Amino acid sequence: MIDILISENIHGAQVDALVSRFKVVIQSDLWKDPALLAEKVKNCRAWIVRNQTPVNATLIDAAQELLVIGRAGVGLDNVDVQHAERAGIVVAYTPDQNAISVAEIAMGMMLSLARFLPAADADTKKGNWSRQRFLGTELYGKTLGIIGAGKIGYLTARRAMAFGMKVVAYDPFLSEDNILLSEVQAELVELEELLARADVVSCHLPATPQTAGLLNRARFMAMKPGALFINTSRGKVVVEEDLVQALKAGVVGGAALDVRSKEPPQMSELEALPNVLLTPHIAAFTREAQDRVTAAVCNDVARVLDGKPALNAVNRAMPKPRPRPRVTP
Ligand code: MLT
Repeated sequence: MIDILISENIHGAQVDALVSRFKVVIQSDLWKDPALLAEKVKNCRAWIVRNQTPVNATLIDAAQELLVIGRAGVGLDNVDVQHAERAGIVVAYTPDQNAISVAEIAMGMMLSLARFLPAADADTKKGNWSRQRFLGTELYGKTLGIIGAGKIGYLTARRAMAFGMKVVAYDPFLSEDNILLSEVQAELVELEELLARADVVSCHLPATPQTAGLLNRARFMAMKPGALFINTSRGKVVVEEDLVQALKAGVVGGAALDVRSKEPPQMSELEALPNVLLTPHIAAFTREAQDRVTAAVCNDVARVLDGKPALNAVNRAMPKPRPRPRVTP
């Protein structure tokens, strides 16, 4: 029996602290090997993952000793939370810990697209000095459309305010009296209105059946001509071929994607377009965010193993008392 299984690349002082107290197995590449993963989870009481490990019903059923799943991040699309709940397993995550980093990269992407920074950098490094080629636009006075106004959307809007941007937001789960939207003076509007009005559209959506393919051909074509599109949330909310067409048609003036519908992605037309900025799902990858994320998830895992309630549980703070039903092999 092991206490804690870590099936992805998660390390740092907080992990070392767990190692000093518990029997921990760290196999950063384990998520790539479903058969071995199924073997390993049989005998662990806690399981820490990032976004690559598929914590699905089969593996949860195999993990008969499991008390807690720690998700080092905010997106829960790789964890079957409902199935974990049925098995009485705590799912702990990190709802806020990387939000500032994501908001900061969204601002970085806005500036990069508006001022052609990657292209200007590449061109200058070739020995050119093409000032006229890189005539950009200011963010000041422009309208930012936030799709999904949760914590990250709010923090992005706050930063955009400092640049003198106006904010419109679409979020079917919020009402106009939402205090955070009020703070950033954001106008809550329908999605079609946001697309028609925004000079920059920034997506901050979870991957759910409702958001899958939300940004499709019709929605891109409904955007203000030349508007910029940024996605730092989940790749599956975008139909990538439709974005390519909208970019080629000039309806979307530029796009920055940190996330892809399949990760890692296959090469596609997106890689070849000059007004597209692509990064490998690094929005949350800052030292500060990773320290916070690792600390929070390790803390909750240790708490549950010590018989205490998790502080950032998605479903339940304490595991359901045993015995849980065993699956016949
Ligand atoms: C998150 O969901 O927290 C970020 O996208 C980073 C990650 O998935 O690990």
